Amino acid sequence: TIDQRVESLLKQMTLQEKIGQLNQYTGDNQATGPITINPNKEAEIKGGLIGSMLNIVGTKYTRQYQELAMQSRLKIPLLFGQDVIHGYKTTFPIPLAEAASWDLEAIELSARIAAQEASASGIHWVFAPMVDISRDPRWGRVMEGAGEDTYLGSKIAFARVKGFQGNLGDTNSVMACVKHFVGYGAAVGGRDYNSVDMSDRMLWETYLPPFKAALDAGVATFMNSFNDLNGVPATGNKFLQRDILKGKWNFKGFVVSDWGSIGEMVNHGNVKDSKEAAQLAITAGSDMDMESNSYRYNLAQLVQEGKVDIALIDDAVKRILRKKFELGLFEDPYKYSNPKREDKELNNPMHRKIARDIAAKSIVLLKNEKQLLPLSKDVKKIAFIGPLVKEHKQNMGFWSVELPEVDYDKYIVSQWEGLQNKVGKNTQLLYAKGCEIEGDNKDGFAEAVTVANQADIVIVSIGERRDMSGEAKSRSSIRIPGVQEELVQALQATGKPVVVLINAGRPLVFNKIADTAPAILYTWWLGTEAGNAIADVLFGDYNPSAKLPMTFPRDEGQLPIYYNHFNTGRPAPNETTTNYVSAYIDLKNSPKYPFGYGLSYTTFQYSDLKVTKNKITDSEKVEISFNLTNTGKYAGDEVVQLYLRDRVGSVVRPIIELKDFKKIHLNAGETMNIQFVIDKEKLSFYNEKLEWTTEPGEFDLMIGSSSSDIRLRSVIELLK
Ligand code: IFM
Repeated sequence: TIDQRVESLLKQMTLQEKIGQLNQYTGDNQATGPITINPNKEAEIKGGLIGSMLNIVGTKYTRQYQELAMQSRLKIPLLFGQDVIHGYKTTFPIPLAEAASWDLEAIELSARIAAQEASASGIHWVFAPMVDISRDPRWGRVMEGAGEDTYLGSKIAFARVKGFQGNLGDTNSVMACVKHFVGYGAAVGGRDYNSVDMSDRMLWETYLPPFKAALDAGVATFMNSFNDLNGVPATGNKFLQRDILKGKWNFKGFVVSDWGSIGEMVNHGNVKDSKEAAQLAITAGSDMDMESNSYRYNLAQLVQEGKVDIALIDDAVKRILRKKFELGLFEDPYKYSNPKREDKELNNPMHRKIARDIAAKSIVLLKNEKQLLPLSKDVKKIAFIGPLVKEHKQNMGFWSVELPEVDYDKYIVSQWEGLQNKVGKNTQLLYAKGCEIEGDNKDGFAEAVTVANQADIVIVSIGERRDMSGEAKSRSSIRIPGVQEELVQALQATGKPVVVLINAGRPLVFNKIADTAPAILYTWWLGTEAGNAIADVLFGDYNPSAKLPMTFPRDEGQLPIYYNHFNTGRPAPNETTTNYVSAYIDLKNSPKYPFGYGLSYTTFQYSDLKVTKNKITDSEKVEISFNLTNTGKYAGDEVVQLYLRDRVGSVVRPIIELKDFKKIHLNAGETMNIQFVIDKEKLSFYNEKLEWTTEPGEFDLMIGSSSSDIRLRSVIELLK
């Protein structure tokens, strides 16, 4: 068995070789963090002193490094890890955008294709999915997760792990790494790497479930986190890694630190040097040290001094070796290094087709006055204006894999090219840049206005630069940068109908546009097929169906903001009363766009709610059904959302909580009967003793098109 093989190999290993397995270095291709000491890697690999590498991509390079490992005494293969966050060569929408699709099959498929491409390119292991709940869009890494909701986030975490891992051990699968364990998304003030202070209830109820979902999907590895949680850095946190993860949850895979996070505990100030950091991290359950060299240089001495029990090291080594065996690397260390397969997978036209489909599914229609959209393909002249129209690489968003061989301008469909591909010969496309993404230069406005005046319709593409959101990209202001909003105002002043495309890695604040532009599409960063997908939506070849996975605030002053908050003792009765109620005297409480919001070119009617039983015991289930009718002119998809509110609990409960959803396709005029089941699990919560339990009482049942557009209501009573 694999366990026997692991044991037998372990017996042959010296202490240095064991520690080597716990050591991960970056390659030279691309670094994703500040590099510390980088000694002679080649000699160290040959000496069996490195267990894994990151940032080496391609069969050519991974093979070169693996050949070095095969010269080591025990020939233990290297693991190649990479940040494959939203696709490999074929870049999919940023994860937050994909989450907006609420389409679990599509999300799983996108991870599957990323796995197929990455594994064909020598990668064994991806540092994804990121499942940190994010309620503060100032934090740049919101782009990398599934947004603010625990239920949706957990479903997506499960789907992504399944997609990446497929049938782990098959050549087209990779190990997933769920990250960052845990709390990273709650960094104070939305500032990256900042401290996290949260109650145990919030940890268990809101932040841990997506990790548990990833575990339930069989995730092979976990990454811990940069942040401290209630004063203890996650990397050196025994409660998180030993008690919860490897204890209560019985996780059998291994934990990798974040980049340098073992050494960074010295900065946190809970250890005095890298030796103490190594001792704390291994004791707390961090198995592999990414780039801090703390294990490499201190663990042997710590064992010799009796400060670290060799059993801890053996356990970590076994966890890592087991994965190498499971992947089949001992049978064939070059299993993932087949240049022919690499060429085929990286140029598979089907992947682009699927990327286009999920990109279209990720675009959120925020506004569509007088049904300006979809555009007719007979429009004579379209002015396509803005600093993002002709960009190629920007569409990739942050954390895209930057393959050295790829010519991005040829490979990525710009928005301009997408429109060109779409319109017929009778439509003329006009262009002006208007302004840059940043800066206050308005010199280009005049030309943009002239171009707009010549057109029948104006489309303007604005937003963030791709590297304005992502790791280390926190912003205190989440407004549209530069003079882009003013450009939109200038174009609207021409009196021409203006469609605004907003490209970003996070929810932004853009009140002027929101209040005055007739049509707005939130296009995030959509990847390789961005231009085609946007054109598909603009012209109605795809009817938008996405719904926001994060609340969009009116103002940064509302942050953090999320839909499933508590009622408080003094809830504001309306938007204008502020006196001695929980409100701001200078700002409304409500968001600009709520969680779960997104329009379609068609309309949906919800009717005929039927609830099998309104009073149940917790061993019974409630079956709910209702009719959904497409009442508009276009076929379309609706994400029907089921929410609950526990009216009275022994601890206060959110005013609304997502408990289920379905994405339904209906042709114009079609009606479908939709069913949900409410069981004990959906009615449970963590009580004061942190027990997952139910309490008798009444629950509001709400079915809606968003968290603030509830169409059907009922009440369920849970009996004693
Ligand atoms: O995987 C990432 C992590 O999310 C942030 N720091 C660097 C790691 C490796 O690139």
